[in-house]
Parts: sequence; structure tokens; C-alpha cells
Amino acid sequence: MKFPKDFLWGGAVAANQCEGAYNEDGKGISIQDVMPRGIKTPHTDLPTEDNMKLTGIDFYHRYPEDIKLFAEMGFKTFRTSIAWSRIFPQGDDAEANEKGLEFYDRLFDECHKYGIEPLVTLSHYETPLNLAKAYDGWVNRDLIGFYERYVRTVFARYKDKVKYWLTFNEINSVLHEPFMSGGIYTPKDQLSKQDLYQAIHHELVASALATKIGHEMMPKAKIGCMVLSMPTYPLSPNPDDVIAAMKADHMNYFFGDVHVRGKYPGYMKRYFRENHIELKQDKDDAEILKNTVDFVSFSYYMSVCETADEEKKIKGQGNIMGGVSNPYLPASEWGWQIDPQGMRYVLNVFWDRWQKTLFIVENGLGAVDELVDDGKGGKTVHDDYRIDYLKQHLLQVGEAISDGVPVMGYTTWGCIDVVSASTAELKKRYGFIYVDRNDDGSGTLKRYTKDSFFWYKNVIATDGEAL
Ligand code: BG6
Repeated sequence: MKFPKDFLWGGAVAANQCEGAYNEDGKGISIQDVMPRGIKTPHTDLPTEDNMKLTGIDFYHRYPEDIKLFAEMGFKTFRTSIAWSRIFPQGDDAEANEKGLEFYDRLFDECHKYGIEPLVTLSHYETPLNLAKAYDGWVNRDLIGFYERYVRTVFARYKDKVKYWLTFNEINSVLHEPFMSGGIYTPKDQLSKQDLYQAIHHELVASALATKIGHEMMPKAKIGCMVLSMPTYPLSPNPDDVIAAMKADHMNYFFGDVHVRGKYPGYMKRYFRENHIELKQDKDDAEILKNTVDFVSFSYYMSVCETADEEKKIKGQGNIMGGVSNPYLPASEWGWQIDPQGMRYVLNVFWDRWQKTLFIVENGLGAVDELVDDGKGGKTVHDDYRIDYLKQHLLQVGEAISDGVPVMGYTTWGCIDVVSASTAELKKRYGFIYVDRNDDGSGTLKRYTKDSFFWYKNVIATDGEAL
């Protein structure tokens, strides 16, 4: 199996999970800086020392060493995000923070030094905290204006350095994590459906606006949406389960449907009617939504099941979106079910549905790694489990390409170990590169290549033939 010559092989991270330097060079506090335990426990008021993300893996200072290692693996692209609060520390500031802008100039220049194309997420779970506290995040329409100011600033600054942009990371995750995903300060159990879908509407308008502005300012740029893909299988062939699974999928497809078709689908209008949700829309919103994306990007970690039978609704462990466990699948140490064929399935479903080029921008295995002597005086990790996971998934990407699905590229999640989003730990590692940092804050931050580093290098060098 050979992948296309121009396939964008690479890896992905997000600013808040790797950069650290949370208050350096004028950066403001982001929602992540007050989430010391991820989504598992309530956020704090102010940053606390036990928050691993405040230091991250110190990518802010060590990025040249890390990009060099990505280049050694042969990366064609590197996905990261811009921390909104580095550019607009409070989110609603009138002026951008020049020092923050300079950092990403340096970072993108470093990528280009090795011919690595940056793939940039504009908003990856790191809304400036002030926008959450003072405005209730995306519930408030003012966020569209603040986001517009931010994207205009970074498009103008990096238009010659960045060709590929993503508007919001896993935009549909706001359904389950309104604070992390949508900067919504109102506690989840007090958030009405009305406010939740109003916030979603604002994000969808902002995303389409960013696409419009991006196309005007950077005619050669490609702008995509990013959704959390989690295909839902019916737990049984009972038609009740099939419809339950369809409805669960609709809740997620809705986001892609609006980004690709430029309007709200009928099943959502029904949902709004039945749940007494009345969206407040400005007169131009419908027109703005018509600015559809150039490609659809997505994360894929697992599939889930759905059933109409309340007694069988046993929720899977450890994933953001919930969903019923699949009795046929094994799971990772964090309870995320492993389903390589789901990758082929979701690629086909998305292509059949949207007829838009697809980009897998997250996939990988979070696991505990053991750093051992490499027998040559150094240290390494023998992560055959990670190699196996990635190999099985990539083989299914190959199957989908053979099915005729156009796939632009594949960036593994956490190509270097980063702090986890859902649990804020570093012991849950995804990388090809081990970072010596532990959850008690100890460690030298030194980087070590794992076995998977050399495996991925070979996969890229052979255009996938080594799989
Ligand atoms: C995705 C997010 O949901 O999954 C990433 O976009 C995140 O930010 C990744 O890190 C893996 O999740 P976790 O919780 O294992 O870090």
C-alpha cells in the first residue's frame, strides 16, 4: 500500500498542552490555566501550582530542538494551535500583544527551515479566561467580534507562513464540555439547552466568518473545520437501536453539515422545535454561514454504541463524548475503546456525506511508557503497543484511500508527549518522543526518542509502504 506522494504526514499538539510559559511575554490566563485536573473536577479561580499545563513540556523555549526531531522523522506538516491569550491576553483587548505574535513567527519560521508546513488551529480549548468569566464564553454574541479581531490579526501576520488553518478544535465537544470547549462559565448542570445551542450558533457563525475572511486575505490558504469523530454503531439490529444511533450521530454530524452545506439541517430544526429552542440570529447570519470550508478535518480515537434500551446504556469510560461500550472491542488503559476499522468507516461516511477532502488531524494511543536503557548508553521506550495501534489505524486509512476517499494527510496526536486534555496528566503519553516530566512536577524535561520514532520515520520515508 502506497500513500499519495503529496500526503501530509505529521504530528499534532495544542499550545496549552505543550508550551508552558503560561504567563510569559504578556500572555493572559486561559481557561486551561485553571483546569488542574482536566475535565474531571471543577476548575479553580486562579492558576494553581499543581497544574501541569503551566509548564507543559516547555515547548515555548525548547521548540527548536523538538521541530528538529520532527524533521528527522520526515514530517511534512506540524499541527499546533495559537494560544489566543498570547495574542489577546484578555480576549477583549483593543491591541494585540506583539511579544506573543513574535513567538509564532519564530515557531513557523523554524518549521519552514525544514520544509514543514504548519497546520494551525485557531482555537483549541484555550479561550482567554476573561472571556469565560466576564462574558460566559460563546453564549455571548460579543465573542464573535473578539474572535474576528483575533483571526484578522493572525491571518494578517502569518499569511505568508501558514497555508492550512482550522477554525475550532473538535467544535462538537461543546455539547459535553461547555467550559473547556466553549469557554462557558455557567456550570454544565445549570446550562440550558437554549444557551448551549445559542453558543454553538455563535461558534458556527464565527467559524464561517473566519473562513470568509481567510479566503479574502489569503486566496491560496485552505481553511477547514475540525470535528470530534466518534461513529455510533447500534448496539443491536433492533430498529430502535438503529434510530437511537442515527440520532446520536446527527448530534455530531450537525456541526459538519453546517460547515459543509452552509445551513442548518432539517433534523436540527426539528430538534430545536421539540426542545423549545429559539435561536437568536442576526439578519446576516444565514449569509455568513454560506462560507463553507475547503476540507473537513477530524480526530478519531474510538467508536461507540447507542441503544434505546435504558438498562443497556452502560457508558464507556474515559472519553469526552460518552457513548455505550462495544462488547467486541478492547480498550486502552484509560478505557478508550480501540477500533481501527472505525477509521475506515468514518472516512467513508464523511466522504459519502460531504464530498469534501478529509484530513485526519488526531489519532493515537495514550499509554504509560517506561523509560529504559537503550543498551548504547542512552535511554528509550520500547512502545510496540503504540506502533501496533498506529499501524492498524493507518492500514485502515489505506483501505479508505483504496475505497476512493480523498485524504489530505494524517497527523498523530501528541507526536511529542504533552499534558493530557481530559485528565491533565503527563503519564498518559502519546508521543514518538518521550519527555522526562512526571505528574509530581519532577523530571529534567529532556527528550528521548522511542522505538515508534524510528518506525514512523520509516513509514513516512516509504510513503506508507513499510506498514
Ligand atoms: C482530543 C483533543 O479530544 O483528544 C486533544 O483535541 C486531546 O486536545 C486528545 O489531548 C487526547 O485526549 P487526552 O485527554 O488523552 O489528552
